[in-house]
Amino acid sequence: MKLRFASSGVPVWKAKNLLLALLTLLATNVFAQKNIIIPIESKDNALVLQVGEDKRVGIIYFGKKLQNTAEYQHIPGMYKRGDDYSGVLNAAYTSAGSRNLVEPAIQVTHADGNTSLALLYVSHQVQKENDNVSTTSILLKDPVYNFDVTLYYKVYNKENVVEQWSAIRNNEKDSVTLHKYASANLYLSAEDYWLGHYHGDWAKEMQPEEERLTAGIKVLDSKLGTRANLYQPPTFMVSLDKPATEEEGSVLYGSLEWTGNFKFDLEVDPLNNLRIIAGINPFASDYALAPAQEFKTPPFVYTFSDKGKGEATRNMHSWARKCKILNGTGSRLTLLNNWEATYFDFNEPKLTELIEATKKLGVDMFLLDDGWFANKYPRNSDRAGLGDWQENVKKLPHGIGYLVKQAKKNGVKFGIWVEPEMVNPKSELYEQHPDWVIRQPNRPEHLYRNQLVLDLSNPEVQDHVFGVLDRILTENPGVAFFKWDCNAVIYNANSAYLSKQSHLYVEYVRGFYKVLERFRAKYPNLPMMLCSGGGGRVDYGALQYFTEFWVSDNTDPLERIFMQWEYSYFFPAIAQDNHVTDWGKQPLKFRTDVAMMGKLGFDIVVSKLGKEDLKFAQDAVDTYESFSDVVWHGDLFRLVNPQKNDFASLMYVDDAQSKAIMFNYLVSNRYGAGSLSPVKLGGLKPDKKYRIKEINLYPGTKSTLANDAVYSGNYLMTIGINPDVNARRASVILEITEAK
Ligand code: DGJ
Repeated sequence: MKLRFASSGVPVWKAKNLLLALLTLLATNVFAQKNIIIPIESKDNALVLQVGEDKRVGIIYFGKKLQNTAEYQHIPGMYKRGDDYSGVLNAAYTSAGSRNLVEPAIQVTHADGNTSLALLYVSHQVQKENDNVSTTSILLKDPVYNFDVTLYYKVYNKENVVEQWSAIRNNEKDSVTLHKYASANLYLSAEDYWLGHYHGDWAKEMQPEEERLTAGIKVLDSKLGTRANLYQPPTFMVSLDKPATEEEGSVLYGSLEWTGNFKFDLEVDPLNNLRIIAGINPFASDYALAPAQEFKTPPFVYTFSDKGKGEATRNMHSWARKCKILNGTGSRLTLLNNWEATYFDFNEPKLTELIEATKKLGVDMFLLDDGWFANKYPRNSDRAGLGDWQENVKKLPHGIGYLVKQAKKNGVKFGIWVEPEMVNPKSELYEQHPDWVIRQPNRPEHLYRNQLVLDLSNPEVQDHVFGVLDRILTENPGVAFFKWDCNAVIYNANSAYLSKQSHLYVEYVRGFYKVLERFRAKYPNLPMMLCSGGGGRVDYGALQYFTEFWVSDNTDPLERIFMQWEYSYFFPAIAQDNHVTDWGKQPLKFRTDVAMMGKLGFDIVVSKLGKEDLKFAQDAVDTYESFSDVVWHGDLFRLVNPQKNDFASLMYVDDAQSKAIMFNYLVSNRYGAGSLSPVKLGGLKPDKKYRIKEINLYPGTKSTLANDAVYSGNYLMTIGINPDVNARRASVILEITEAK
């Protein structure tokens, strides 16, 4: 159903009975006040906008929902922190060039060269998608120029999640240049703001930072083009007043659904309020919007909780699984990957052995990684061949088809690695299509991992990229999985195709999405891993086309505990691919236990495993199968933070609160390090009884915990259980099942 409202304050219903409509609205008190109040509410939270008498739309509240909508209007008067001389510090979408003096959400140059923009309320409406999802849109227009912006707030009620974006329309006679065009503009009020954000590099994803924001602007951004999250992911959290803990405090999580350059401005303004502007990075990206055209910004997704980080995470996970990640409520394929087992050095017999090993291990699929293609410049290292997607005849004389058949013979599936957006200069593709490559014509090429990026703004390149995937699947319908890699950043950003170079960063991402749309139209369900030299590209824009992402090339389990923990704030376990490899000094059990807190895979030489290790790995695959449903779809409770303790502890609980899996890992070598006290569990039913059993034990070892002990949920969540983590028991997995 659609509800429309207009600036006169008189609702314009689609339905005929205007009087009844008016009475209904008066009864809900929306228009009973002098100013129009627009509450955007979810189950527990509210973002409240108010239209002033001057028609400017401001944010008067962000936080926990009030019972009485009419009371929101009192809130601004309660703050005596000074004067807002401009009157627009709290703008719902701050425009540059007129009264505003702070960081804008939008900045434009009109067709006549004028650089001012004012956006005034015209109307708003609420569109209901279903019982849980509705979108409020607010139309704003410049009173002088024929230029308007619609703000969209899509509310996922139960999940307490909002996706916010804007549509910018130019109805002037000539092009308008958009210098900045954010997705969202928020305004929060607290005494202090604690920003949690991340930095990183290859093999060092998700290094956390937390800091108090002081007056001025803190910027989080990326200008890398592709592999945009190499140094910084597009995700952050802000705690209000004091750093939130897992169970206490008010916290906002935000993430931009955009697989490219992003920018978050976090500005503590003169009134000590926090302005958040989130969107595509305007860096080198002036966008000429033609007359009668609309620019739709990507959604900025956020959730808020006044009950700490744990609840915010569960909100985000639930939304991600049900509404965003491809097949987020489905299942995933366990696998054996050959990247670290062989690197580029393989042939048909070696791969056939690995396919047999896949079966022996008991996982679902064999995943063939980099190195299977190119003939003129064979792909025997990362220096050549990228772009030439024909099977290398020396390594694979009978093509992919032979391997698919081998997989079938062994009762496993077959997946394959691609990196279709990129090219080595040493390749036939580069020789044939130099104009498809992003580079400055009059400067030396600068390579990243010996490769360059193809210009996805060019429709011919989009066809090519789609064609690479489509050909593999058409010729080999048995291919069941893609790992889509993206190893280079964009240097020398310049497109031979575009006439306006400042459109490149935006059009690249749009081109990427066009390919993915086309791919998904033809292959809606094929599982696909989002990979970028590790986790260099992890965002919810891409994840609507992908089933999962590669967390990091760093598979040292000790490092992984920390990375997986940090990713877990924003991304559910079902989307995180974790492989058991030979990185790190820990035994196979520890490595496997860590990989189990997400989607389990292996990248080891199975034939080199000793008898006991092999038995353990085979049993572990069965064990994983017995509880993967809980890890993939359950609620996450982070119990003991490895950043602050000698060990990490977390658990997943199923919807029915009848089964849970608890993971515990030692992260310190210090004398006596381990779980000295019981760990309080979360998410159980106090009045249910639960049986606790240690699982995934290494052959020949026994649990030190009481066998099959039964406790009440109340006991487990009030007193807890000690998993007995110590140097001799460095990783412990507990299965918690309802005892009936
Ligand atoms: C980077 C990925 O992160 C690795 O897993 C592997 O696929 C290599 N690329 C292959 O070149």
